[in-house]
Amino acid sequence: MCGITGYVGARPGVRTVIDMLRRLEYRGYDSAGVAVAGLAAGSDRGDLEIVKAAGKLAVLEGQLQDHWEMQGTAIAHTRWATHGGPTTPNAHPHYSCDKRIALIHNGIIENFQELKEQLGAAGHAFTSDTDTEVMVHLVEEAYKATGCMETAVRKALCQVRGAYSIAVVSTHEPDTLYAAKTASPLILGLGNDENFLASDIPALMRYTKRVLVLEDGDFAVLNRQGVRVSTRDGEPVMREPFLVTWDEQTAERGGYPHFMLKEIHEQPRALADTLRGRIREDGRVVLPELEAFTAARLAAFTRISIVACGTAYHAGVVAKKFFESVLRRPAEVTVASEFRYGDPLVGPDTLCVVVSQSGETADTLAALREARRLGATIVSMVNVVGSSIARESDAVIYTQAGPEICVASTKAYVTQVMALYLLGLHLAASEQRLSADELRAYAQGLTALPDAVEAVVAQALSVEDLAARLADKSTFFYLGRGYDYAVSLEAALKLKEISYLHAEAYAAGEMKHGPLALVEKGVVVVCFATQPALFEKMLSNLREVSARDGLVVAVVPEGERRADAAADYVLRIPAVLPCFAPIVAVVPMQLLAYLVARARGCEIDQPRNLAKSVTVE
Ligand code: F6R
Repeated sequence: MCGITGYVGARPGVRTVIDMLRRLEYRGYDSAGVAVAGLAAGSDRGDLEIVKAAGKLAVLEGQLQDHWEMQGTAIAHTRWATHGGPTTPNAHPHYSCDKRIALIHNGIIENFQELKEQLGAAGHAFTSDTDTEVMVHLVEEAYKATGCMETAVRKALCQVRGAYSIAVVSTHEPDTLYAAKTASPLILGLGNDENFLASDIPALMRYTKRVLVLEDGDFAVLNRQGVRVSTRDGEPVMREPFLVTWDEQTAERGGYPHFMLKEIHEQPRALADTLRGRIREDGRVVLPELEAFTAARLAAFTRISIVACGTAYHAGVVAKKFFESVLRRPAEVTVASEFRYGDPLVGPDTLCVVVSQSGETADTLAALREARRLGATIVSMVNVVGSSIARESDAVIYTQAGPEICVASTKAYVTQVMALYLLGLHLAASEQRLSADELRAYAQGLTALPDAVEAVVAQALSVEDLAARLADKSTFFYLGRGYDYAVSLEAALKLKEISYLHAEAYAAGEMKHGPLALVEKGVVVVCFATQPALFEKMLSNLREVSARDGLVVAVVPEGERRADAAADYVLRIPAVLPCFAPIVAVVPMQLLAYLVARARGCEIDQPRNLAKSVTVE
């Protein structure tokens, strides 16, 4: 996730914004850059300088020796690539054509392509592949017309659609910073005769503990004397500053005790970002990444083969069901380590869908190469731009989870599932397998998911009692049918990974074919019953467990009461389209795993024996 810092005041600007940026490194990034408007020490240069570099901050710092003591208003940025690879030209800040305005951005501009065309026609030259660069040219164009930076930035913002936090500096008003936010975070830090801005509080803490959190739609003007906040249209708004009392480490985790909890809370935003710009008004899915594939080419894939490992494989299990239901033809999902040595039935008629958060998992990469060797076309779902899997695919649909730091995956999983739903709907629409009404209903169902997940996250406390009750148990089963079976797999993995408890997922109908023998007092059985068509069947499974003294936890949609009598504990989740329930039903299970692990005193963010990116076989 990109990091933004900005400073106006008497300190050396470059040194200050880079120091602040270092405190945002935990967000992950692939390139960095800085812009300073003002005077070099001992010189009367009044220009705007940008220095940027691909790679870690140290690379950039190596190029800043002459700039270190420069005074002047400065902005800096660490980039987590979304549009355009992690290269120096794509790093922020971006210049206007006349090099008098510089801008940094965190977020995604959905309509950048059409704006780029318009600006190109008006004579603007672009030096990067980013969506961001259009914004600085929009500001430049508006400044030419109005001669006022504040109006120019406001006008530019009115033309873009999407998510952004931005900061702008210029030689037109070298003592002023302009900033705005919608969807992506931006915090102002208030000092004495100096002011700051940053994507997150840790960047500010060394300099000031008085902060002000901007809200969506806010526009801010910062100079040494103070900050002024208004709406994008200029209506003044009051944002109360507050004093930060966290230590720096807590601040890095946004005040959460662990990255895992922070990432669970980030899921509504991550889902919204993955959906952003993907659904047209008529309900059709927009996947420009697949533009090169004609409808005839897509329809010619008689086989769909999904490959992935771990949590990403579980996302694939959801996708298999969904693809089969909307495409009415078989889809396979295979663990990558089995696929690569399994003599897979793959050929030129196969669409191989590769799912990976890191884009570097050795088994998944090897499976991709094997599929390619056999002539398949590769479409991957990856979270890290420019990663090996992304580079070796025919097309990539990036999940917009942002960097995931906890080893146990949460927000990457839900965004993978979301991206896979989008792919399924795109294929189904291109094969004309869904009516206009069906497409619209699916689109509405997807759009409802961020809020549904938000509602579950907001009730985290309701899982706390249950977690306390389960923390000393040693055997867990997770049961479900259909989509609920897919969620069971992921729920069980979460508990195993971070609490080191034995958890097994089963297709609920399989219990009586063996595992039921293990159920006795003290054994915990989580039963997912989110699928109305299978509810009665799940209720029977739940009763079978209860009759054997197992401790039953039921996960049901809101309003559903039929499981109450047989379950020891009922967790209710918002009712969504049944095929989309996995994204919502997994969330209380992530929270449960987290709280059980915490109650057991486990190392949560870095569980024993596990690594975030498994680059060896
Ligand atoms: C579990 C988890 C792992 C990964 C697996 C694949 O919480 O994170 O099971 O899902 O190692 O990793 P990626 O998605 O990076 O290929």
